[in-house]
Amino acid sequence: MTDEPASPPCYAAGCDDAYMGYAGREEIVAALNELLEAERAGARVALKAAKEGPEPAYSELMRDVRGDEARWCAMLSRQLKRLETAPSRRTGAFYGKAMAIAEPWERLAFLNRGQSWVVRKLEALTPRVRDEGLHRDLRAMLESHRVNIERAGALLDGRDGR
Ligand SMILES: [Fe+2]
Repeated sequence: MTDEPASPPCYAAGCDDAYMGYAGREEIVAALNELLEAERAGARVALKAAKEGPEPAYSELMRDVRGDEARWCAMLSRQLKRLETAPSRRTGAFYGKAMAIAEPWERLAFLNRGQSWVVRKLEALTPRVRDEGLHRDLRAMLESHRVNIERAGALLDGRDGR
């Protein structure tokens, strides 16, 4: 902790975050919407995959992932509303690509690559977010993705060993 007071959110006040090396409002809105569309796609893929899971552990993981993805959709929508913008209602192209893969384990591997893409996006964005509340939410989303990637990786590894 530092002695500095918490910075109030000042997007609306027109503070020039970009000048200070932080992501500006427009960049943050674009990034949050891109993540929202990706999470919506992920939630839909996981819901489908849970119903078609080849074994209970697979379906259980997909139900958990679906719950997490839905939670991050809600968080991102809330943060976008806080930035006084309408959250995107679109679903990322990832959904169609994942659904084109019929083999459940291949689809899981593809979903995990999508989750890794989200991690890379968050790793790049989070250090550039000044707002404390948003920063905290994005850190939690990042951690949750790392945990789920590991779980899916373990399930895929176990499958390889059979
Ligand atoms: Fe995700």
